Amino acid sequence: MTPEKNKSIIALYAGTFDGITRGHLDIVRRSAELFNRLVVGVAKNTSKSPLFTMEERVGMIREETREIANVEVTLFEGLTMDYAEKIGANIVIRGLRIISDFEYELQMAMMNRTLNPRVETLFMFPTADHLHISSSMIKEVLLLGGEVSKFVPPATEKCLREKLGSIR
Ligand code: COA
Repeated sequence: MTPEKNKSIIALYAGTFDGITRGHLDIVRRSAELFNRLVVGVAKNTSKSPLFTMEERVGMIREETREIANVEVTLFEGLTMDYAEKIGANIVIRGLRIISDFEYELQMAMMNRTLNPRVETLFMFPTADHLHISSSMIKEVLLLGGEVSKFVPPATEKCLREKLGSIR
C-alpha cells in the first residue's frame, strides 16, 4: 500500500468508548495521520451496559478530538460491517493491547471478513503506557478513590466523576 493510496482510504474506528481513554486517543491520532478520513463510530453494543448514553459518548469524543481536522465522530447500531459499507469505509481499525485481546479480536476480524470481505481489519498498538488500561478498569479505580489522570483526558475524567458520583 503506497502512502498516496492510503490517503484515499476511509477508516472506521469502532468501539464502545464508554469513557474514551488516552489509549483510544493515541489510536485515533495515529490513524488520522495515516488516512484522510477517520470516522470514530460509537457502537450501541448490546453485549455491554455502558455508563454513558451513545450521545454522551459521541459528545465526549468530539470534545477530545476537536483539534484533529480529519476525524468525525458518529454513532451506529447494528453490524459494524454494515456501517462500514454505509459510510464507504475500506478499513476497520482495532486497537490491540494485551495478548488476551488477541483471541477475541481474531474471532471478530474473521467473522467481519465473512460478513464483508471488502473491508480489512487493521490492528494498531497503543503506546506502552496505555497497553494495560481499559474503560472498566479506570471506572473501578475512580470509584475507589484512585488517580486516573494519566489514563483519561481531563474533560472525560470530569464526566466520569460526575456519572460515577451520581450512582455511588
Ligand atoms: N486504550 C484503552 N483501552 C482500550 C483501547 C485502547 N487503545 N482499546 C480498547 N480498549 C478497551 C476499552 O476501553 C474496552 O474496555 P471495557 O471492556 O472495560 O469497556 C475494551 O478494551 C474493549 O473495547 P472496544 O475497543 O471499545 O471494543 P468493544 O469490545 O467494546 O467493542 C465492537 C467492540 C463494538 C466494535 C463490536 O462489539 C462490534 O463490532 N459491535 C457491533 C455489532 C457487530 O458487528 N457484531 C459482530 C462482531 S463480529
